[in-house]
Parts: sequence; structure tokens; C-alpha cells
Amino acid sequence: MDFKEHVTQKIIDITGLERETAEKSIEVPPDEKMGDLAFPCFPLARVMRKAPPLIARELAEKMSDDEMIDRAEAAGGYLNFFFNREKFISDTVNAVLDAGESWGASDMGGGKTVLVEYSSPNIAKPFHIGHLFSTAIGNSLAKIYKHLGYNVQSLNHLGDWGTQFGKLISAYKRWGDKDVIDKDPINELLKIYVKFHEEAEKHPELEDEARDYFKKLEDGDEETTALWKYFREISLAEFKRVYDMLGVRFDSYNGEAFYSDKMDEIVDILRDKGLLVESDGAQVVDLSDLNMPPCIILKSNGATIYATRDIAAALYRHRTYDFYKNIYVVGTPQALHFKQIFSVMERAGWEWSKDCVHVGFGLVRFDGQNLSTRHGNVVFLDDVLNESIEKTREIIKKNGSNVDDIDDAAKKIGIGAILYTFLKNNREKDIDLNWDTMLDFDGESAPYCQYGYARGRSILRKAEGIDFSDADFSNTVSDEEYALAKQLSSFSDAIRSAADKNEPFYINRYVTNLTKAFNKFYNTNPIMKDDVDTETKKARLAMVDATTKVIKTALGLLGIETVEKM
Ligand code: ARG
Repeated sequence: MDFKEHVTQKIIDITGLERETAEKSIEVPPDEKMGDLAFPCFPLARVMRKAPPLIARELAEKMSDDEMIDRAEAAGGYLNFFFNREKFISDTVNAVLDAGESWGASDMGGGKTVLVEYSSPNIAKPFHIGHLFSTAIGNSLAKIYKHLGYNVQSLNHLGDWGTQFGKLISAYKRWGDKDVIDKDPINELLKIYVKFHEEAEKHPELEDEARDYFKKLEDGDEETTALWKYFREISLAEFKRVYDMLGVRFDSYNGEAFYSDKMDEIVDILRDKGLLVESDGAQVVDLSDLNMPPCIILKSNGATIYATRDIAAALYRHRTYDFYKNIYVVGTPQALHFKQIFSVMERAGWEWSKDCVHVGFGLVRFDGQNLSTRHGNVVFLDDVLNESIEKTREIIKKNGSNVDDIDDAAKKIGIGAILYTFLKNNREKDIDLNWDTMLDFDGESAPYCQYGYARGRSILRKAEGIDFSDADFSNTVSDEEYALAKQLSSFSDAIRSAADKNEPFYINRYVTNLTKAFNKFYNTNPIMKDDVDTETKKARLAMVDATTKVIKTALGLLGIETVEKM
């Protein structure tokens, strides 16, 4: 039973207020001691021609005798409601246990497709820490939308096209050694690519050679296409290793190359609509009235660029998926790019361009340092993930934790710690990773929440054989028990806020607060001790069961796994 809805209906019944006004007025008081919900009587003062405190007092009297509401108190112009704790706790815990994994789920997304594009690294270049940030956010958003019933497609818009491939092919033909590259593809490809730039400084004719190779590639020449495919395959195999470690899957890896034959149409459409103007030999869409630089569609040599490919991709996605939302999880430095292409699309008359959303995020530092400069110019992502796993393994050993499979636990906790950190704050904020905070088992961290879960599971293991399905909650209404039930009940609010703002951190904050409430609950309310009577024990076990289920689901929405023992 929805307590808020119950209170709303009651206010409407008694006052005759319109539903919309009543719903909007009801609020959660700033302090729990003031009640669970409050209704400010000010909007009624004019209609009823009475002072708000008087109205509050009169309403309070009419609210008594209600099995869901323990009491309603007037406080100044406010009417404060205190729920019937026993009823609230038992309704909530039973609802969670009935719903299981689908607690907090909804069917609001029925029949609607949400596209979440994320990660999108570049072929033959290292998977940057920023791509990991994008992966953490996008993977979580995809799960959040799925939980709300949307049909979700996870897209990886690989950077697998552009003039740099001409350079890479030229470099490979000059200095490439397949055996060496196969052993460490991305670093070796990067090496010859860097060498190309050094050599091209001294021998500018290399640039012409590279341009010719890219032209050949665009024209579908067999040899260059085979090389491009090879680079793409070996890079993708490396990326997929990271995705496997993170438990991330994509429905499509259609990258920029996929749109290379879909761009003539874009140029035609924009030209037909009279949107293209010439500027220094290039074809651009002028956006000066929006205070933006022009969006270049064709370079002076007739080649298309990143923006053109993105516009082609958006049209393709519209046709293929008829999306409800098309989300791009890409760093904030590209905000202008997305503003430009969305504006071009709007000018092309594509009314669905309003459903395209850029979800930006900040910069990542490590212990105050810019991560991309840590090892020369490269971040070894595997190193970061593996270091986290190794450090976790040490902590587990030091703590003497009794895990079943230390490799499995270290991996789930170590990777969870990193994902959690990326999703801990407003995504536009720059973040500073540091091991002490990430792996602080007592602080706000993934291990802290995972530990809460494992703690709950261990209590349930000890209670094996006790049937608590018919628990009676009349003796389990302490402040801690009530606070825990309130946390359990607010999961769906957190999920909706996360989807509304495309901000997984609402879920992160939720699961952290839930775990805190759980810790307080079991530290103050004994569960398996001998002197706990059977009914109380059963009720508390039901709460533990419900809580572990919700911690698991909530962490799952962040892409973080749980372990049974810790
Ligand atoms: N590959 C690009 C990069 O690494 C990100 C692609 C973002 N997605 C897009 N549709 N433009 O910067």
C-alpha cells in the first residue's frame, strides 16, 4: 500500500482540494521527528478564510482513526503525518520480498526504446580512462532504463574511421611487424603511429602518402581494407577483454566506419534544405545566430568529418530504432560538438532531434595527477583494474575474511570499487581516484555496501531452516527498524530520479544510505541471539532478507556485483 497516496486521498476527501494541488503540496519534512509527511495548509487559507494553523488543527482532528496513520499533528500551518510503523514496515518488507529482483521496477518504459551510446573508444589507440568513465555511466544508465521497462540498446560508436587510418596504414607498411603487433596490439600500433608523426615532421611527403591510403580505403581498395579490418579486430579484442572484466555488453559496435557510405545522403539533405554554405572551401552549416562556430560538414578536400558521421548515425538510429531517447555518454569537452550537431539536425527539420541527449562527464585524475600522463601519454587500463583487484586481495587476506573464492571476490570487489567511485558524484564533476578512498571498507565505497550485503547473507545462512514468511512486525518498530523500512520503500524514487537526470549517482547514494541504515539496524537490534523471541527474530530476518535483495539489485544497477562472504 502506498502511504503517500493514502494521505493524499485523505486530504482530498476531507478538504475537496484538487488532486494536482494536493499532490504538489505534500512534502517530506526536513527532520524525521516532524513526521513522515507534511501537508502545508497555506493554499487552503484563502478558500477556507481561516488562518493556516487553525486549519491544520481542524484537519488533525478529522484524520484520527486510520489504520495506516498513527497520528496527525498540527505544527504551525503544517499538518504532520506519522505513519503506523508496524503497518508501514510489514507492508514494505512483504512487498519487497514478493517483488524480489523487480523491486523498484516499473512498466513506464513499455513500448519505448532508449539508446544508450557509451564507451566508444578509438581503434588502434589506448582505451582512455575517460572511456572507462563513459563505460561506467552508460552501463549503469542502460540497466536503470531496463529496470523501468524500456527496451534498451547499448551502442558502442567506435572511432574506427578517419584520416588517421591512412597514417596508420602507411606506418604499418613501413615499420609494422605483425608478430610484434599481435602480442601487444594497441601499444604497438600506437608506437608506429607516433613514429609516423615524428617521421612526417622530417619528410612531409609522408602526409601525402597517408592521404592516398585513406582515399584508397574510402574507395574500398582490397589491401587497405584488409589492413583496416585487421586493426579493428585486434583492437576490439583488447577492448572486449576490458568489457568482460567489467561485465559490460553491447548490442552494436557500429562505429564511424559503418556510416561512411551513409554520408552522401546527409550532404544532399542539408544542401537541399539550403543549409550548406561555403567557408574557406569547406561546406558548413552556419550557426552564428546561436553563438556557435559553424558545423563543418565537408572539408575543403571534400572529405567528411566526425560531425558528418554523427549526423548520419543519428538519422540511421532514428530509422532503425525509432527511439524515444538517444543518449550519448561522452565527456563534457565534446559538449559543443553535440550542441552543434543537434542544432543542425533541428534545422534539417528532424523533430526527433529533441530526443537526442548529450550526457557529459568530468575529467579524471588519479591522486591529483592527470591520469593520461602517468605512463608517458598512455593509461594502461588493465593496470588500473588489475591493481585494484590485487590491492583488494591483500585487504581480504589481511582482514582474514572468509571468502569462498578469493580470486572471484577480489575481482568483484576491486572492480566494484572503481565503478562505484565513478558513479559517486554528480557526473559533471571532475573526479580524483585514489586507492584509500576507493578501497575503504568502512567509508562510502563499493566494498562497504558489498560488506553490508555479505553480512546480511551470513545472518541468513545462520538462520537456515527458520520460516519467516509469516513474520509479525508488532515488536519490531524501533527507530532503526523503521528507518530501514523507509529506505527500502524509497528505491523507486531513486531509480526515477536517476533516469530523469541521467545520473546514476542517485542509485549510488541510495544504496550507500540503505547500507548505513542496515548497519545501524543490526548493530542495535540483535537478530540471532538466544534471548530474542521467535516472532521478533522472524520479523528481523525478513528485514535482513529484504535488505540484502535490494542492496544486490541497487548495486546491480551500478554494474557492481555482490559476494556471499566477505
Ligand atoms: N571516439 C570518440 C572519442 O574517443 C568518442 C565518440 C563519442 N560518440 C559520438 N557519437 N561522437 O573521443
